[in-house]
Amino acid sequence: MATRLRGGSASPPTVRSIIAGRRPRAARTEQSTNPAMLTEVVAEVELLGADGIVAACRAARAAQAGWAATPPPRRARAIQQAGRLVEANKEALARLLTREIGKPYVESLGEVQEIIDQCDFFVGEGRRLYGQTVPSEMPNKQLFTFRVPVGVSLIITAGNFPVAVPSWYMIPAFVCGNTVVWKPAEYTPALADALATLFIKAGLPKGVLQVVHADGAATSAGLAAALEEGVVDKVGFTGSTAVGSHIGELCGRHLQTPCLELGGKNPLVVMPDADLDLAVEGALFSGFAFGGQRCTSLGTVFCHEKIHKAFVTKFAGALASARLGDPTKDVLYGPLMHQRFFDRFIEFLDLVQPHHRVLGSTGTGRITRRNPRRGFVGNPASGLFVHPTIVDGIRPDDALYDTETFGPLVGVGRFATLDEAIALANGHGYGLSSAIYTRNPEYAFRFREGVSAGMLSVNNSTAGAESHLPFGGNGKSGNGSRQSGMWVLDQFTKWQAMNWDYAGHLQRAQIDIEDVPADLGYRLESRR
Ligand code: UN1
Repeated sequence: MATRLRGGSASPPTVRSIIAGRRPRAARTEQSTNPAMLTEVVAEVELLGADGIVAACRAARAAQAGWAATPPPRRARAIQQAGRLVEANKEALARLLTREIGKPYVESLGEVQEIIDQCDFFVGEGRRLYGQTVPSEMPNKQLFTFRVPVGVSLIITAGNFPVAVPSWYMIPAFVCGNTVVWKPAEYTPALADALATLFIKAGLPKGVLQVVHADGAATSAGLAAALEEGVVDKVGFTGSTAVGSHIGELCGRHLQTPCLELGGKNPLVVMPDADLDLAVEGALFSGFAFGGQRCTSLGTVFCHEKIHKAFVTKFAGALASARLGDPTKDVLYGPLMHQRFFDRFIEFLDLVQPHHRVLGSTGTGRITRRNPRRGFVGNPASGLFVHPTIVDGIRPDDALYDTETFGPLVGVGRFATLDEAIALANGHGYGLSSAIYTRNPEYAFRFREGVSAGMLSVNNSTAGAESHLPFGGNGKSGNGSRQSGMWVLDQFTKWQAMNWDYAGHLQRAQIDIEDVPADLGYRLESRR
């Protein structure tokens, strides 16, 4: 029978880590609260220390050989069942997403759908995981390639996509024969527990998935110790550029290449021939849906000088009339997902300079009774609600040009030529997502060639990548690793090359080969 996730109950559940099928106790507890209704405690979580990470990696190591020996179609069967279970619990999981991080319900449903899509994609991979047969340069010899699981994967994820992004790592990791230790964000324990429970109910054997609830310092120390002990083989991390570079450094010492998915300052370029209404619609969703808390959210719109004024007027008008507030209702965004992000966002507002023009709402900063937002849905005092902010007049020497603000703030700058727009789109050093609005294919292809981002949209939002295309960034946005689709297989498998010689005597490669006789001095003219 399908598991059903419980709705709100009187006393919040206590969430514990999962290691080798057991749920170890921990003395330190924290509460996760509903950011739209701060008085509502969603869950209490018991946090383990660095030794919890190491213990979980050891458990994953112990289970890995058995899992790798399980035929891939059987491993994928568990993933198929996980997809079915997630689908059967779609609304309940989406409701929990909205409660624990304040994601608007429609977007929460979309996030859950991403898990189902990933399961659908990787079920088939269990019957492929193709290697190649390759001809040899010698007779009586055959060459092959095999994909081999990497081993134990430690997956450390952020809380803005608290169930979809972990699934992007874990689903292919499992199908490829890896075991996993997952360290979710501290402020999404209820969601982490719900997702892990669904995976385990779907048939993952004990020890294949561990979940460790821990803070950042314990995770860093635990990772260093686990690497030292040799019980972790691959790290997947989605989060800030600063933490990503720290993880890269730790892994590099052990000659490991982590899969890093980091920040962004995603540009959206509006060419003079663009459909402006479409561009405004795209910018509104890219910049402000879920309060701009996607790594793919829009950073700065760069407008051609001819349409700059018209675009900004329409954009500010559309934002001013957007519905914000209670995330269970039809709103563009609800609260910021946690106090940490709220506090940081308020600080980012100090980056606005006198040469900037602020537009888009009836105020800036926290929405309160005294600093109201026209048309706010619900009671702003109950949660972490902030005004949306457009900052016009962004120049490359502004801090707002290259600071990822991770909240409902979008800059607007201007340019005269496409080359200038491309330079502005790249100059901040991030390279995750990007967009161009134009009807001219030449502009679109020149932008594709010039932009440094790993992903680009033509006449579409910077956010909202389909989950079977390569996802990832360059520069400050990542180390070139890619998630999703067939591309992520290279993160969770290593290629093994095999040659099989059945000649019965030693054949030395490059040496014992027969050449093909040829007259390379021959020229066509010599026939005349
Ligand atoms: C993230 O914010 O880390 O492309 C991921 C998107 C979503 C995923 C965002 N599908 O916007």
